[in-house]
Amino acid sequence: MRSTTARHDIDRDLVLRHLRRLGNLADTPQAAPTPLPVGIAGVALERDGVLTVDGQLAHGTPRRVSELFSAGSHPPYLADSVLTATMCHSGHDPVMYHAFRHFLPPRDLRSGRHLPADPSGAVTSGPGRLLADLVIYQPGELPGDEPFRSTGHWNLPGQLEIFQVLTGRVAMLVAGRNRSAEPFAYVQVCQAGETMAVPFEVWHVSYVLDGPAAVFNVTTMLEAGPVGAGAGVSKYSRSAPVAITVRREGPDLRCVSTPAAMRIWGEPGEPPRIDWLHGLLSAGQSLADLHLHGTPEQLEAIVQAAREAYRQGWPVSDLKPCAGRSPGRPDEGRAGSGGPADVAPVAGRWAWM
Ligand SMILES: [Fe+2]
Repeated sequence: MRSTTARHDIDRDLVLRHLRRLGNLADTPQAAPTPLPVGIAGVALERDGVLTVDGQLAHGTPRRVSELFSAGSHPPYLADSVLTATMCHSGHDPVMYHAFRHFLPPRDLRSGRHLPADPSGAVTSGPGRLLADLVIYQPGELPGDEPFRSTGHWNLPGQLEIFQVLTGRVAMLVAGRNRSAEPFAYVQVCQAGETMAVPFEVWHVSYVLDGPAAVFNVTTMLEAGPVGAGAGVSKYSRSAPVAITVRREGPDLRCVSTPAAMRIWGEPGEPPRIDWLHGLLSAGQSLADLHLHGTPEQLEAIVQAAREAYRQGWPVSDLKPCAGRSPGRPDEGRAGSGGPADVAPVAGRWAWM
């Protein structure tokens, strides 16, 4: 956000009013934090992952490891699902992340109006609404050297979603099909300040590489929601997860998957370019600033650019082979719902500093 005092006050008051209406702020002021650089005026992230807004504790929804198994109607695909389940059953069930849904006031894309807080989602779930979430990931790992992660879900057709890492470092696994039904899969590593947009109707799951990591995202439905599969169900139950996941291997990341997933999605590669987005953000403009203050014309330009990129085959048209790829070694695997026979080494490496 811009740093003028007047703008800061407007942002602070707007966000505070919004979060109070949602009931997501504690009344008790917190001690002054030693914040990590989140980049949103008035918002501070302490090193233990606690989030404050103007000195008041913000309540996110905690997501524990066990919820990987209960969130959706399909079993998760994990680097070591057997040991992960055993860990949860033994009572060790850490929080992997806190989700702050509707962290900023929703906006109407066409008019640019800020909309009132809508805890039920009844008003804001329709097309043409720009929604903003914040997720704070805790550092940590699951069995099988899999970094703490989101549950993962399929976005809907016509759902545009853009992320910005505010602090920490995150990897996102993305898989899906482009407009011509060509399958793709890639892993994108983002440092603080970097922005990534995901294609329409994709599977995506985030992994924390350096935490705590704060990831802000905006999303909108460009058309009315689907009337077929995926309509009216939890985003975690729209379809089966893509059976690929990420694990640490020394200083690198490595993907593991089932042979079936390998055949469908191929070997995850380098991420596509999102030049179509970068040119549409003002110099130094954060995604939060875009959400709060972008003009309807700027928001419309981004929507049209995303549509055009998709029309031209993005992201498949941009995908490059994974640099430094090396054959994986046989996985000791207990990934997925089956035994070792289900698992194959599939992917290359992503150098990370
Ligand atoms: Fe999503």
